[in-house]
Amino acid sequence: MSPLMHNSAFEDNGINAEYVRFHVKKEQLPDAIRGIKALGIQGVNVTVPHKEHVMSLLDGIDPLAKAIGAVNTIANENGKLIGYNTDGLGFVEGLKKAAGDRLENKSMLIIGAGGAARAIYYTLASSGVRKIDVTNRTPGRAVKMMDACPFPLDSSFLTLEAAENELHEYDVIIQTTSIGMFPHIEDSPIKVNALKRGSIVSDIIYNPLETSLLKQAKEKGALTQNGLDMFVYQGALSFQKWTGIFPSYSIMRDTVLQQLG
Ligand code: ATR
Repeated sequence: MSPLMHNSAFEDNGINAEYVRFHVKKEQLPDAIRGIKALGIQGVNVTVPHKEHVMSLLDGIDPLAKAIGAVNTIANENGKLIGYNTDGLGFVEGLKKAAGDRLENKSMLIIGAGGAARAIYYTLASSGVRKIDVTNRTPGRAVKMMDACPFPLDSSFLTLEAAENELHEYDVIIQTTSIGMFPHIEDSPIKVNALKRGSIVSDIIYNPLETSLLKQAKEKGALTQNGLDMFVYQGALSFQKWTGIFPSYSIMRDTVLQQLG
């Protein structure tokens, strides 16, 4: 989706540029990064499995990306390669659209403790949200993520079962695992019986646009958000790092939606 999305934004802004994909093998990552400078490439996105390892190959890392421990965006700033992480910021921008600008006082629950959860958890904490609990299949992984967070938080780990029973405690529930993603669209990480009416349930999956979790949450009277906003905003924020221009959200979103059918 990213090439289509970014190329539509380049065209819209009259920028003579093209976003293309390269498949980089692990052992060739240092050469690929050197190539950015040699070829005069203005910026890149980095995806799984290179987001962590790439950090040691850059000239500078933005503090938030350093805290998260992963880079998804590199900008070539006058010959210096600077690493950023727009995943969490993209999520937070999207969440503000659904929940309003004042996120600080909301109590939140994150489901999952992988790379996406980490970016979202740390970025929310860095944005001033104080109550962010975490639930995950593997407790140790979640606790490690929570303990390493450099921002002050009032945060507890809950088992998936406890989280299901306590869902009514949360204003915002954020689903970050791959459960429910195409083609396993019937799966859901958690039962929503205890959901508070009017709460927000945000699932970072965008294929399908409505996961089984979101469908059930909507039936319980929750406001739901799919992963499209996060995907588009992380891209828009990367685009801004490369060009200095914040692109049209609606043009990028429509391009992705067209592709998703
Ligand atoms: P990403 O970097 O995309 O977030 P990841 O690091 O593989 O992906 O993390 C996947 C998340 O989904 C984890 O929280 C994982 O739980 P564990 O830490 O217990 O592995 C969760 N997850 C994936 N498949 C799962 C499943 N079938 N049941 C429960 N949790 C699952």
